[in-house]
Amino acid sequence: MASSKIILTAICIASFYLSASLAFPGHHEGAYPVGNSGLSPDYYRHTCPQADEIVVSILKKAIAKEQRIAASLLRLLFHDCFVQGCDASVLLDDTEEVVSEKNAIPNKNSIRGFEVIDEIKAALEEACPHRVSCADTIALAARASTVLSGGPYWELPLGRRDSKTANMKLANKNLPPPNATLHRLVKFFQRQGLDKVDLVALSGSHTIGMARCVSFKQRLYNQHRDNKPDITLEKGFYYTLASTCPRTGGDNNLRPLEFVSPSKFDNSYYKLILEGKGLLNSDQVLWTGRDPEIADLVRSYAENESLFFEHYVNSIIKMGNTSPLVGSNGEIRKNCRRSSILTASRKADKMAIPGSASKPY
Ligand code: HEM
Repeated sequence: MASSKIILTAICIASFYLSASLAFPGHHEGAYPVGNSGLSPDYYRHTCPQADEIVVSILKKAIAKEQRIAASLLRLLFHDCFVQGCDASVLLDDTEEVVSEKNAIPNKNSIRGFEVIDEIKAALEEACPHRVSCADTIALAARASTVLSGGPYWELPLGRRDSKTANMKLANKNLPPPNATLHRLVKFFQRQGLDKVDLVALSGSHTIGMARCVSFKQRLYNQHRDNKPDITLEKGFYYTLASTCPRTGGDNNLRPLEFVSPSKFDNSYYKLILEGKGLLNSDQVLWTGRDPEIADLVRSYAENESLFFEHYVNSIIKMGNTSPLVGSNGEIRKNCRRSSILTASRKADKMAIPGSASKPY
């Protein structure tokens, strides 16, 4: 009787491990995954326990040199995850095989922070060669940027792998433009499996960082193609913006997205929106876009910073779990700007075709 119980228990344990390994093939490097993303906060516990420390120490130096870099790195996570999932596709440079997302309209002359990601990745490679993906490097850098700016900390699921390709067309399609209506913003987020709470909470990332005049100029001079300003802009704020952004020229001049505490991650963003002082159209319409659920959230976050932080953490984890590559999908890039698989196949091609290694002109 006792021995049959032992056998039964052994069968149960064995079948549990078998089904776990079938559910997460190749996921043997870290601790067990949480949720259904296949990611786990303990993923690097054995293979690179110092990964986060490395990211934080490099970021501290980078932020001391330039405050804005924290905002730029946080934005990288958004622009990565909204285009074929959080797979570091945004980091790939143009090559013969890759059309870089860096040249998509929402990214060109705008997205930044690649040199700091390179520096972090080089340090990770030195400490734990070929272990930490570029996609996780972005996610770790985004969390550290938030925390170092005074924002909330979250347990970050890890174990993403890197894509072998980028998708510039999808970047143009999936990244919302700053002049989008509220209805369209909701649709852009829905496409990623994100809801209205995620939209309002994640827009709070605009509590840090800068925007170029070109991103909000339409509001000053031609909001409805009528040569008039956006009537929802508070008057004094309008004049301040117009002094930085003239009707013609100055497109690359910068304004803080949130001017009260532009490098502190707090809830001032929502307080300003209630006063008609949101910078982008996409910021202000959260309040003026006539969606009572969304407007209520803006008011609640303006009144209660802890609630904002609580929702922000849930939403950024959710966004960070978008279609990750796990198991044997994708790869771990050594250099985040290039897919090593494509580099290897190009090398092989060149070796196969005599004389092709040195192109004439
Ligand atoms: C709701 C839709 C969103 C739109 C339409 C939008 C649009 C923009 C635009 C136009 C800029 C300024 C770019 C420039 O002028 O060069 C910007 C900056 C920024 N965005 Fe968003 N964004 C959105 C959501 C998000 C989300 C979800 C995050 C992060 C999770 C985010 C993080 C940031 C940050 C931190 C900056 C400042 C970057 C810097 O200073 O380098 N944004 N965004």
